[in-house]
Amino acid sequence: MDTNTPIKFDVVKKYVEELNIPDLSNATIREIVKVVDQIEEATDDKFIRMEMGVPGLEPEKIGTEAEIEALKAGVAKNYPSIEGIPELKKETSRFIKSFMNIDVSPEGCIATTGSMQGGYASFQALSFMDKKKDTALFIDPGFPIQKQQFKVIGAKFESFDVYNYRGEKLREKLEGVLSKGNINSIIFSNPNNPSWICLNDNELQTIGELATKYDVIVVEDLAYFGMDFRKKLSIPNEPPFQPSVANYTDNWIMLISSSKVFSYAGQRMAVMVISDSLYHRSYPDLAERFGADRLGYAIVYRLLYSLSSGASHSGQYALAAMFKAASDGKFDFVEPVKEYGERAKIMKKLFTKYGFEIIYDKDLDEDLADGFYFTIAYPGMKGGELIENLLYYGISAISLKGAGSTHVDGLRACVSQIKRSQFDDLEYRLKRFAEEFK
Ligand SMILES: Cc1ncc(COP(=O)(O)O)c(C=O)c1O
Repeated sequence: MDTNTPIKFDVVKKYVEELNIPDLSNATIREIVKVVDQIEEATDDKFIRMEMGVPGLEPEKIGTEAEIEALKAGVAKNYPSIEGIPELKKETSRFIKSFMNIDVSPEGCIATTGSMQGGYASFQALSFMDKKKDTALFIDPGFPIQKQQFKVIGAKFESFDVYNYRGEKLREKLEGVLSKGNINSIIFSNPNNPSWICLNDNELQTIGELATKYDVIVVEDLAYFGMDFRKKLSIPNEPPFQPSVANYTDNWIMLISSSKVFSYAGQRMAVMVISDSLYHRSYPDLAERFGADRLGYAIVYRLLYSLSSGASHSGQYALAAMFKAASDGKFDFVEPVKEYGERAKIMKKLFTKYGFEIIYDKDLDEDLADGFYFTIAYPGMKGGELIENLLYYGISAISLKGAGSTHVDGLRACVSQIKRSQFDDLEYRLKRFAEEFK
């Protein structure tokens, strides 16, 4: 490799070697963050940082203002109720009706410390609710930290890459797994982190019908609620609605995060929503493990109580206010984050111009939406090699391997931190990369 690279070759080499991970496709996001921080500091060069999914926009003002008000009113001194403050519970139920056309009572709308916590608590409950069903199923690619959560819990999971099982093929694949009888839950995000595929209504119907047939619970992670920018999903009480498995089964738990759609990641605020029928359903094995047999009760008063005894009091006022403004039709919550789609459109064009391939490029016969993430491969280059080679060209991204993507060894690129003013740099670096590796 020519050592005259856009970022000083010796510096990149030094820090990559210090990381001591021979194949960078095994590095975690935080390890890539660390090495890029070190190189940036040593060289004064700014990277095109596509490794971490942090919001790149200002936090939604409606949230910060409501939160400041709540703090001024003194809520910081009081513990919030574990299940969430009544305002948030009510506005969550309303938001779900307004933008999904799904009915759920406020009781099942529970405040959590980020969707990370909602996931953790629900995975605990689902893993121990029925001794005969000891394994969760991820429809991958997926969010790697959720699998880490399973490892921490000590519970089993399996997964498959949905790439080859879209549309009608999904039914047969799922039947094959579910008919073994050991699966307790199906977990996926929609839109999907990391690939940005969006499962459509037919696919969600398949998942929902089979969840009912095999009595498994679907955890639908809506961290990117409404962010399929191909459709206008932010007009209250008017279709199209955010697609959901909840239209096709009663066995659902949703995770809705404020982090991405409201750019509110710092306050660690989310809701977990449990369907009315599941909330009160009794699972005798849950009682043995947690001392409470009803799913909703066990999650709130056994698990969330143990984990953090509730979620940030002021943050809950923020999320309630943002949900309310959206349902009242006073705040088009998707409008600000559309910027990510615009960035992705331009960046995907640049990558493909210089020989990269977009791996997940279709939702069946429809072009993939442009959004928060996209996926790339470079012909003839393995994922780990590609991560390392791109570092010399001032571009950072993470491997898809840890996300359970099995059909191509590629990378996830996140657009959120990239400024439009960096596009010239990006093009220059990609051009140089293509010249070196053509
Ligand atoms: C699919 C998915 N689920 C959950 C989360 C975590 O959300 P939170 O910040 O609310 O914990 C993320 C964040 O990147 C995500 O991409």
